[in-house]
Amino acid sequence: MSIDPSVIAALRAALVSDPENIAMRLHVGQLLLDGNQAAEALAEAAEVLNRQPTHGEGLRLAEQSAEAAGDVIRASGYRRLREALGMASAQNLIESSLGSDAEPPSRPETMRLTHRGEEEETEEDSGDLTGLRVVTSDLTLAQVAGMKDVKQRLEMAFLAPMRNPDLRKLYKKSLKGGLLLYGPPGCGKTFLARAIAGELGSKFLSIGLTDVVDMYIGESEKNLHRVFELARRNKPCVLFIDEIDALGRKRSLMRNSGERNVVNQLLSEMDGVEADNEGVYVLGATNHPWDVDSALRRPGRFDRTVLVLPPDAPARAQILQSAMEDRPVNQLDYAKLADQAEDFSGADLVHWAEAASEQAMADSIRKGTVRSVDMGDFKQAKKDVKPSTRPWFETAKNFAVYANEGGTYDDLITYLKSRRWM
Ligand SMILES: Nc1ncnc2c1ncn2[C@@H]1O[C@H](COP(=O)(O)OP(=O)(O)OP(=O)(O)O)[C@@H](O)[C@H]1O
Ligand SMILES: [Mg+2]
Repeated sequence: MSIDPSVIAALRAALVSDPENIAMRLHVGQLLLDGNQAAEALAEAAEVLNRQPTHGEGLRLAEQSAEAAGDVIRASGYRRLREALGMASAQNLIESSLGSDAEPPSRPETMRLTHRGEEEETEEDSGDLTGLRVVTSDLTLAQVAGMKDVKQRLEMAFLAPMRNPDLRKLYKKSLKGGLLLYGPPGCGKTFLARAIAGELGSKFLSIGLTDVVDMYIGESEKNLHRVFELARRNKPCVLFIDEIDALGRKRSLMRNSGERNVVNQLLSEMDGVEADNEGVYVLGATNHPWDVDSALRRPGRFDRTVLVLPPDAPARAQILQSAMEDRPVNQLDYAKLADQAEDFSGADLVHWAEAASEQAMADSIRKGTVRSVDMGDFKQAKKDVKPSTRPWFETAKNFAVYANEGGTYDDLITYLKSRRWM
């Protein structure tokens, strides 16, 4: 089916000013899927699931889009999650059990699957661990704009000790525990993790909710256990759990004992009750830290909660500049643009740069001459791009005020006060 691109463009522009509009996003995703733009449809579905990890329609769209995009593994991950949540039909169950034996295709972007054959296989490890990824990435920390404090903490807590095993022994520096990154959407938590992967090479493992949740009772816990066992065998390494609120949700929010068991399993894996976690550093990311079970924040688990703030002006300039890197540009004043973009997230800035480039391209087509992207294009494009971080701070403020146990949100309070929002 062919879809009028202007309809999609208009809906996308509307989504920029109303990013939380799940129904509209699903509609856009479905249009994209119908128009054979499966990868784009999948991106919209992923946005929905970022906000509501168990959204039924979001999962269905994600599954269909992943399948249409040829990403069998991801499709089966979503399908299993739908099954676990009782959303999929019996026919799907049959297809899924057939599908899980399929040969994994090579992953797009930076991800590649670990083949079970590479590990020593023991009885308990012989299960299916298709979701676990060893992430390879050529990003470096230098490409992450701003976040000086966060980078410094990461460097001290594990990057430096990992690079200097002798000094680590000398000072008896433990490589246990972890960091929980939190903050408004689009400000670089996942990006930062990918950069750490770039710095560490194969010593970086990543898991997501769909990788461990399994329809069969008890399977999710086993999957989680296998992930930690693999990490322990590869130590020293970093285990990254993105959107951890979906996995480590407060036990009080859980609807059933199955979900509770997953959290309990995560707690006991992080404690290393039955195994030694020395050398396994867990990095978590979330934009709903208040939904993460507070037991996960006890010492030895995630010992620190670190706020990832929207980029400041110099960081905004850097993000804009790198977004324009491979495009024809004409006298762009990045510092000036950055000054006009207070409260923009990194993702908003990337979007702004794309919208400006689109303007220049449309103009070039209209006039029949190719021209570079200039300040005028950014000015024009800005009408459609709105900063998206404020609503998150509105919500976060309530938790900072009423739920700041143990000073978890001290950084947040300092920031809110510095902006006079509190
Ligand atoms: N500090 C930054 N430096 C460079 N690029 C950034 C930065 N922050 C965000 N970006 C850009 O914005 C995109 C979105 O950021 P990312 O997905 O890492 O945000 P996030 O904090 O994980 O959001 P969410 O909470 O929604 O998962 C990145 O892929 C990157 O292009
Ligand atoms: Mg993220």
